[in-house]
Amino acid sequence: MTTMETKQNQVGAVMRLAPVIPVVIIEDAAHAVPMARALVAGGIPAIEVTLRTPAALDAIRAIAAEVEGAVVGVGTVLGGKDLDAAARAGARFAVSPGVSPGLLDAADDSALPLLPGAATASEVMHLLERGYRHLKFFPAVPAGGAKLLGAWASPLPPARFCPTGGISVGNAKDFFALPNVLCVGGSWLTPADKLKAGDWAGVEQLAREAAALRGG
Ligand code: 3PG
Repeated sequence: MTTMETKQNQVGAVMRLAPVIPVVIIEDAAHAVPMARALVAGGIPAIEVTLRTPAALDAIRAIAAEVEGAVVGVGTVLGGKDLDAAARAGARFAVSPGVSPGLLDAADDSALPLLPGAATASEVMHLLERGYRHLKFFPAVPAGGAKLLGAWASPLPPARFCPTGGISVGNAKDFFALPNVLCVGGSWLTPADKLKAGDWAGVEQLAREAAALRGG
């Protein structure tokens, strides 16, 4: 069985690949490969495909099989069945908006590393107790933004976050300034209109801007 420590190291490595993990809602699985190629070409290799559309698992399968340099993950994981299906499709990491006892038990038994969501100090403590130190802070801006996350840095020092929800090029720097942030997540790199139009050059440009966000 893959140990929690191994899975935590794997998810930490994914979070360090680039400043942003795009959160993708994909309506047409045929868009998956060109979209992922554009993201990778722009410097964004880790891609979270959310289980919000019927095309999601096919999209994960296609990216895993065909896009060199991409590290595809599954998002909007709500239970153990989602983890199993995504692992079979080739996902390399999983992201959940929050946690439930059932999801955490399933994640313990799965080889797929989970980045679980937390929005309060108590949720962070609960997840630290379960062996998670890499967490998604969700929904980042509505829950309190960089101010709340910054306030957790001193009392919750082992936790490292990927804040997601309401983040854009405009406010990402507030999060990167925090010592407990490894990356941010957001849907702005893959807007529905660009996917629908097949504007892969536009997606690559958004990825390029996102890849340059940290440290600038
Ligand atoms: C989501 O779950 O949709 C993500 O948090 C992305 O949020 P965003 O659309 O505000 O980037």
